Amino acid sequence: MKLLEDRILSDGEVIGGKILKVSNFLNHQIDVAFLDQLAQEWKNRFSGSKITKVLTIESSGIAIGASLARALEVPLVFAKKHQSSNVNEEVYSSKIYSFTHDQYYNVVVSKKYILPGDKILLADDFLANGNALKGLIEICKGAGAEVVGAACAIEKGFQNGGDQLRKAGIKVESLAIIEKMDSNGIEFRK
Ligand code: G4P
Repeated sequence: MKLLEDRILSDGEVIGGKILKVSNFLNHQIDVAFLDQLAQEWKNRFSGSKITKVLTIESSGIAIGASLARALEVPLVFAKKHQSSNVNEEVYSSKIYSFTHDQYYNVVVSKKYILPGDKILLADDFLANGNALKGLIEICKGAGAEVVGAACAIEKGFQNGGDQLRKAGIKVESLAIIEKMDSNGIEFRK
């Protein structure tokens, strides 16, 4: 989506070749009207699917997820991060490894908010190795809910998580896919 690619080129900052900082519209200061425009694009891309809920992970996923849920007129559910592995029977949980932070964390969702038969659209700001989405998929499976697809704003194509998920049959719709980035610039997938 050209709108997002242009915003990344004007406002993004590449840190050390692997991290893209987009704090002035997505990760710290949030351009809500801009996210609403992204949400309309996802609404078009998933127009053939019946969706009952949007599911994301705290914290940065919540803003994207809220715009998307508003556009689709469904609730947003966000998985909560837990440091401890003490989970109880009232929640679905998944253990996720973050390459960016080199640590494992648990995410949990109350069994009250994902029900068997729900048709779930996953949402996140960044898609890198795909572990966060894989964790959410595991939670949906545990709940007997169907994963309709994944809506990601920025995919780092060179980290392969998006392509692995597509190979596994998930409809992944990223609005900007970065093939390469360094101090000389950013290249998007055509
Ligand atoms: P993965 O889920 O695709 O495997 O990615 P990874 O574990 O490496 O990502 C972990 C966290 O880092 C996520 O946020 C993700 O949104 C963020 N992230 C990954 N790559 C980038 C990047 O290039 N730029 C920025 N700005 N963020 C990136 P998180 O740890 O869950 O934190 P938050 O959602 O609470 O902010």
